[in-house]
This record gives sequence, C-alpha cells and structure tokens, in this order.
Amino acid sequence: MGDLFWEWINLVLRWMHLIFGIAWIGSSFFFVWLDNSLRSNNKEGVLGETWMLHGGGFYFTEKYSVAPPHMPAELHWFKYESYFTWLSGFFLMAVLYYLGADLYMIDEKVMHLGRAEAIGFSLVSLAMGWIVYDLLCRSPLGKNTAVLAICGFVLLVGAAYGYTHLFSARAAYVHVGALIGTIMTANVFFVIIPNQRFTVDDMLAGRTPDPIWGKQAKQRSLHNNYLTLPVLFAMISNHYPVTYGHPYGWGILAGVFIVGFLVRHFFNLKNQGHGMQFRYLVAAFLVMTGLFFFSQWDPHKAARAALAGEVTVEDVQAIVAARCVACHAGKPTFDGITEAPKGVMLETPQQMRRFAASINQQAVRAEAMPPGNVTEITPEERAKLGAWIEGGAKLN
Ligand code: HEC
Repeated sequence: MGDLFWEWINLVLRWMHLIFGIAWIGSSFFFVWLDNSLRSNNKEGVLGETWMLHGGGFYFTEKYSVAPPHMPAELHWFKYESYFTWLSGFFLMAVLYYLGADLYMIDEKVMHLGRAEAIGFSLVSLAMGWIVYDLLCRSPLGKNTAVLAICGFVLLVGAAYGYTHLFSARAAYVHVGALIGTIMTANVFFVIIPNQRFTVDDMLAGRTPDPIWGKQAKQRSLHNNYLTLPVLFAMISNHYPVTYGHPYGWGILAGVFIVGFLVRHFFNLKNQGHGMQFRYLVAAFLVMTGLFFFSQWDPHKAARAALAGEVTVEDVQAIVAARCVACHAGKPTFDGITEAPKGVMLETPQQMRRFAASINQQAVRAEAMPPGNVTEITPEERAKLGAWIEGGAKLN
C-alpha cells in the first residue's frame, strides 16, 4: 500500500503542478503580450492602451506610467499562480528525486554521493542560484540588459555543466529547470510583489509613488518572460533521453535554451509592432538542426558495428534478464517498484522486440536505463543490445 500511496501523491502533485504552471505562464504570456501591444493614446500619465476581442466581448485596457491618480476599490494581484507552481514543483521533486535519490538522483559513474549529500547539494544549489542571480541584477552589470543577459546565460550553462557532473543526467536537467523556476518565483516573491506593495502603500499614504519600484519589477518580469520557454523544456526533458543522455548533455541544453530565447524574442518584437522578424525563427531552426546533428555523435558506434550479426536473441535475453527484468516484469522484484515502469515488460523476446526502439533510446544511445545503473550493466552489454536492435531485433 505504501508504494501506491506515493504513486498517488506523485500523480496529484504533478497534476497540480501542471495546472498552476499553466495558470502562471498563461497569465504571464497574456501580460507580456498586453505590455507589448500597448499603443500611446497621448493621455496624461498613461503609457498606452489596447483593445481586445475575446469570447464574444470587447475589452479595453490602459496602462498607467506609474500609478493611477486614485486607488481603485478593487485591485487584482497575480502571485498565487507563481507560488503554487513552485510549491507543487518542489514537493513533486522531493517525492521523486529526494525520496528516490538512490534511483533517480545519484549516479555512481558521475559522482559518489550519499543520499543526504545529494539532497543537500540540491537544496543549497537552488538557494545559491537565486542569490547569485539577484546580486548580479543589483550590481552595476545589471544596468545593461545585454551584458546581464549574457552573464545570466553563462551562469545557466555553468549550472547545467555543474549539475551534470554531480547528479544523474536526468536529475541534472530537472535541477536546471528547478533552478530557473526558483529564480522566476523568487523574482515574483522578493522583488515584483514587494515593489508593487511599496507603490500601493505610497498611493494610500497620499505620496507620489517612486517609479523605481515599477522599473525594478519590470526588469525581473522581462527575465521571467525570456525564461518561460527554457524552463518548460527542462521540465519535459525527462521524456527525451536523446537530449540528457548525450555525453555533452549540458551543451544540448544550452542549445535548446538559445532556441527558447530566440522564439520568445520573435514574439516579443512582433507584439511590440516591429513586424514578423523571421530571421529569429530561422536562427532558432538552424540551432535546432545543429542540435539534431550534434545528437548523432555517438562514441560507441564502432563498438556496435564490430558486433554486427554476431549477437543472438539469447545473448540479448540474458543481458535483459540480468539488468532490466528486476523492474521491467509483470511482477517486478526490485524493492520499491510495484509494477512494470511505463508498462514496459521485457521478459520475452517478443516484448524486447516490441520495445526495441525505446530500449535503444534509453539503454544504448543514452545511458538513462537502468536508472543510476543500479544493476551495473557494462558498456559491452549496451553495445550488444544496440547491435541486436540495429540488426533488426531478430527473434532467431
Ligand atoms: C531499478 C529499476 C529499473 C531497471 C533495473 C531498469 N529500469 Fe527501465 N525504467 C524504470 C523506471 C522507474 C522507468 C520509468 C521512468 C520514468 O518515470 O520516466 C523505466 C522506464 C523504461 C523505459 C520506458 C521509457 C519511456 O519513457 O517510455 C524503457 C524502454 C526502459 N525503462 C528500458 C530499460 C532497460 C532496457 C533496462 C535494462 C538495461 C532497464 N530499463 C532497467 C526502472 C528500471
């Protein structure tokens, strides 16, 4: 019952995380769009206006340069979407990666870590990431958007490099995502909302609010805008061993982030009225194509080619029985695994053939399976699995 309990907790947390995340990013996309779509109406104290049509009704919005002359009776704040996205994400990560640290976070081949050490590194790194980023924004470098963007990107790639040398590749990617998510939520919690509060307090006290509060909040909001596409990729990356399983996984992640920035930039410019600047989409496409070719690079190709035609289905079945079936069986025997993960059972040659493409992805091209290499599969065995699959996964 205990295992099923955690499975359901996992399910509920993931569902909540997705829903809050959609609410947050949805409202973020909307406000970024709104901001970019404002056009001046030459009114005193008003930055711009925009008209919208949605769900059969007309909407009209004005943005004030700093604040309206009077406090409205009802004012809507947008913050819980962000906080709950972070909280649900944090608990989901704890259930999956902290409780399952031995399986999902620690990879002996990367670094020999105890559970407590791994969890400690994870927590400290998330806090440190925010502190470094925040200091950078407040430093003189923070005054120059382009310089700050370059520093931020270098730091992110550095974090990706560091995490891939600390944790399993899968956990490393999720940690980069968690780091970005933490920075984004901390921006809302520590800067954007407090600054909005200062503005409102000034108004209530009859003072003219200082525009600096709005300016600082806008800077962080702009960062969050450019980080949304990268963070979303990092969160779904676990489905793609072709990315995190690459020997230079951190490089692939850096490339995907550049694609995210370029696509976001294209939309920002378009909404600001600069037209469709397709060169940014073309650049994104070229980077993606480059990543495709980079992911073809395969240090073990020769080892597999040397085995071509020599590996029998019996050889493969023996490897899978020793290294995979403890988990991938109708009745798994591995402690903590109650049913075949993702429905993948590998007990018969037919089943192995059915999942051949996926086995190739998970255990040959990437070293994502077995998780943390708990069953100690060898490089030769991986090459044999690959040679059998490349030879057409023949059953005799
Ligand atoms: C310790 C248990 C364990 C062992 C041993 C293990 N796996 Fe897995 N496998 C899992 C888990 C857990 C998942 C689900 C991962 C997830 O949640 O994304 C999984 C998922 C998979 C998937 C499906 C991936 C997907 O996203 O569709 C394949 C294919 C797979 N494993 C192949 C293998 C192969 C091949 C071996 C042996 C070389 C192996 N596994 C060994 C636990 C194990």
